[in-house]
Amino acid sequence: MQTETEIRLKISGRDMAKINSIDDAWLLLDEDKITGFGKMEEIKPDVLSLNKNDKIIDASGKMVFPSFVDSHTHLVYAGSREIEYIDKIKGLSYEEIAKRGGGILNSAKRLQAASEEELYQDAKKRIEEIIGQGTGAVEIKSGYGLNTESELKMLRVIKRLKEDMPLQIKATFLGAHAVPAEYKGKQSDYVDLVINEMIPAVAADDLADYIDVFCDKGFFTVEDTDRILMAGIKYGLRPKIHANELDYSGGVQIGVKYNALSVDHLEYVGDNEIKALLDSETMPTILPGAAFFLGMEYSPVRKMMEAGLPIAIASDFNPGSSPSGNMKFMMSLACINYKMLPEEAINATTINTAYAMGLSEELGSIALGKKANIFITKEIPSIEFMPYAYASNLIDTVILNGEIVK
Ligand code: NIG
Ligand code: FE
Repeated sequence: MQTETEIRLKISGRDMAKINSIDDAWLLLDEDKITGFGKMEEIKPDVLSLNKNDKIIDASGKMVFPSFVDSHTHLVYAGSREIEYIDKIKGLSYEEIAKRGGGILNSAKRLQAASEEELYQDAKKRIEEIIGQGTGAVEIKSGYGLNTESELKMLRVIKRLKEDMPLQIKATFLGAHAVPAEYKGKQSDYVDLVINEMIPAVAADDLADYIDVFCDKGFFTVEDTDRILMAGIKYGLRPKIHANELDYSGGVQIGVKYNALSVDHLEYVGDNEIKALLDSETMPTILPGAAFFLGMEYSPVRKMMEAGLPIAIASDFNPGSSPSGNMKFMMSLACINYKMLPEEAINATTINTAYAMGLSEELGSIALGKKANIFITKEIPSIEFMPYAYASNLIDTVILNGEIVK
């Protein structure tokens, strides 16, 4: 079992290679909280004095992990985009597909036509799937609406999921995900719409926790991003932004300027970006599923950790660039493609993503007083076996808010 005795909000640099774990351990969950743990040989009798409704789970030979925290997804969407997947196999780039009206605009067209109920039911199924894969908290973005009505529709779906689903959800407003076709050549008019109409409407109904902008080549500029983040902050929306996926876009620096909770993607990171992040409270977040699926450059993660930075790993679950929210697989990709050690990948998918969702005081590790969101593995020989057995489903029991949900 991996545990924490002191509450750390994030883990950086060399410390990422360390995991505190206890062999042959007991763990006590009371209501929805973690209230005790220790070595079996040191267990006190009062821990064993159970009430008749208490349940004992024998996890012999198994391991107990804190639930994965997935701090970057777009899992509310309509339909799927396997046709573009074939275009990609045939050699078209992400940007070429986007230019042809594919990509985000393709999802926007479908989302605008979908009913709120349909979107809710589809997203609910995806959430049930990721819960079974060990995820205990997820951030979900809007950004396939691209007009006020449909952006609000997406965010209302996320709000309903927040109320209904047993995992923790944070909502991020991403009106500036792509410039809609009708604003082609009038990008700043669309930015005006985001600022003057969408943000106030989102805030009026309290529909978002965070604000995001796709600050990258061919999407939104640093100037657009500056204006949008400034407007969002006025309404209490802290930034979490898409940055440096397609170029040295300046996204990292503008994110840091506005004290973003995270900057995500980061395929293009050099010394300037590392320096900006080192002086900040912003969590650098890597999305290995997207880089893998699109065949992109991999971020220089080892260089970033050697410089002392923390790293978070999220799934980017979305229909275009990462049609999976399987965090155990993201961990394997982190190890295989980014040369992260299994311990680093575990910290990156739990405590550091919890930080990137503003939740690391209550989630991301097994620590006293934290929320009882954990999973128990099947019988496995070691922690390292988790990312190593990259396609095996090793998650046996899932507990959220102290209740067994799988
Ligand atoms: O994070 N990079 C921008 N947005 C998404 C892709 C969304 C899509 O292609 O539908 C991402 O990868
Ligand atoms: Fe994304």
